[in-house]
Amino acid sequence: MSTDTEASPTVLVLHGPNLNLLGEREPDVYGETTLAQLDAGLVALGRRLGVRVVHEQHNGEGALIDALHRARTFAGVLVNPAGYTHTSVALRDALAALPCPKIEVHLSNIHARESFRHTSITAGACDGVVAGLGDASYELALRHIAHLVTHQD
Ligand code: DQA
Repeated sequence: MSTDTEASPTVLVLHGPNLNLLGEREPDVYGETTLAQLDAGLVALGRRLGVRVVHEQHNGEGALIDALHRARTFAGVLVNPAGYTHTSVALRDALAALPCPKIEVHLSNIHARESFRHTSITAGACDGVVAGLGDASYELALRHIAHLVTHQD
C-alpha cells in the first residue's frame, strides 16, 4: 500500500536534544546516519505501511512538550527523548497526557552504558521501548505503531 495523503493516520517521530548532530556526534555510539537520512527512511517506510510520518527535532524541553501537545489527534508517537529520558518529569507528564500509542526509542542500548542512563523517567508513560538497535530501533517501533493503527482487529 502506498499512501501519503492527509487522510492517512499520522505518526509523529519526535527527536530530543543533540539528535540534530546524528552522523557526526559520537558515531561509534549513534552510527553514521544523519537525522535527515533517518527521517527520510522513516517517511518512506511509513508510506509503505500506510501511515503518514511527520518528524520534529528540538533541543529544548519546552519545545518537545509543545510538539507532544500538538500531537493530540495523531495516531501514534515515536519519541527519542535523548538526554531528557533520564531527567524529565515534565516530558513524561506530556506523554502520559497523550491518548495515542507511544513508543520510546533509543539508538544505543542505554542499559549497557553509564549507570545514569539506566533509568528512563519517560518510558513509564509509553506503551513500549525499543533500544540498542541503531536506526532499526525506530524502524521496528514504526512497524509496530503502523500495525496497531492499520490493523484494528
Ligand atoms: C539516546 C540515549 C541517551 O542516553 C542519550 O542522552 C541520547 C541518545 C539514544 O538514542 O541512544 O542523546 O536517547
